Formats: sequence, C-alpha cells, structure tokens
Amino acid sequence: MIFHIETLMLVSVSLNEIYSALTGGPCVFITSRSADGVDDAMANAWNMLHGMAPAVVTASLMTDHTTTKNILATGVFGISVPGTSLQKKLLASGCCHGWEVGDKFVKCSLEKLEGEALPVPLVGGALAHLECRLTEPDLLARAGILVGEPVAARVDERYWENGLFTCEGRPESTMHSAGEFSFFTRGPVRGW
Ligand SMILES: Cc1cc2nc3c(=O)[nH]c(=O)nc-3n(C[C@H](O)[C@H](O)[C@H](O)COP(=O)(O)O)c2cc1C
Repeated sequence: MIFHIETLMLVSVSLNEIYSALTGGPCVFITSRSADGVDDAMANAWNMLHGMAPAVVTASLMTDHTTTKNILATGVFGISVPGTSLQKKLLASGCCHGWEVGDKFVKCSLEKLEGEALPVPLVGGALAHLECRLTEPDLLARAGILVGEPVAARVDERYWENGLFTCEGRPESTMHSAGEFSFFTRGPVRGW
C-alpha cells in the first residue's frame, strides 16, 4: 500500500537539525485540523526560521484563513515541505478555503499522513514534515504572525545526508516563490 511505503521512507530527525529543510524559505503546506475534526492544508510562501537548534518557525498567515482559525482553536499545526511532484496540489490547496470546500485533503486529493506526536494531518509524499505547537497565539490572532516550536520532524530518507536536508542530485527539488505566479527550484548549491 502506498501509505506504508511513504511511512517506511521517512526518518525521524533531530529538532536541532530540521532547520535545514526550511532554510531558504521553500513554499510549504501548512496543515491543521478544526476543533470538530475537519482537516485543512494551505500553500504558504512567506515563511522563515527564527531559531536553529532547536528550530523555531515563523509564517505569515491572513487572519481570515481557515488555517488561522484552526490553529488558534487547537494550538497545533503541521508543515509539509513538498517537492516538485506536488506542485499542482500545492497550488490547488492555495486556491480555495477550508470554510468553502470542507476537508481540503479530500478536495485537493492530498494523501493524508497522521502526525506522530501531535493530532495534525500532514501531506503524504512531501519531502519533510514538522509537527509544531503554537507559541504566540496573541500574535497570530492580532497580526497573522504564526510562531511555532516543532516537537517532531521527519524527512524522506533519500533527501537526508550527513544531518542535512538536501535536494542535490535528487529527482525532486523544493519550490521557492519568485513572485506571484512563479517558483524557482533549489538548483545546484555551492559551499561557502
Ligand atoms: C503558492 C502560494 C503561496 C501562498 N502563500 C501564502 C502565504 O504565505 N500566506 C498566506 O496567508 N496565504 C498564502 N497563500 C494563499 C493561501 O494558501 C490561500 O488563501 C488558501 O486558500 C487558504 O486556505 P484556508 O482558508 O483553507 O486556510 C498562498 C497561495 C499560493 C498559491
């Protein structure tokens, strides 16, 4: 079954090392579950780290998004970092609201992977997954600034090398916003 294959390919990663999956700001799915159990996923381009070891994550969210309401209600969320094979599904998740369509995983045909540590859905087939606790609820409610502490992280083992996330020489790359309607992919990287 595809679900089991995906699960087997994921390795748990230290919270002191997972920052490398978000360095450079890839477009991600931010995932959440409503208080009454409806799952949601949205595309997010405006995100960054502001802590490294352990990682602390930040993202900009419009306050009217279903995602924002879900995270304020439950205090937890997920981040799944997609590769290029999920581009269409990432865009689809960013073009409709949970309050309009219900379960976004069903609407956008996203494979659902359950969180290991927290009750959050994650997007199966993505290259990395973080399960996070909301740390600044007032900031999110007032200004749409999401701050979270990861409590668990998993990475597709093919994209993990010597304690770092990498797409170098791999079939897929992360996607990074290059303006309103375009991405650039991670491309070749070079050492300092
Ligand atoms: C590529 C892409 C990137 C996006 N980045 C953001 C973002 O950084 N912050 C944001 O609030 N919305 C962003 N959006 C818009 C949300 O994904 C979109 O409004 C989505 O429908 C919200 O879903 P929800 O209401 O179910 O939470 C982005 C959309 C796309 C397609």
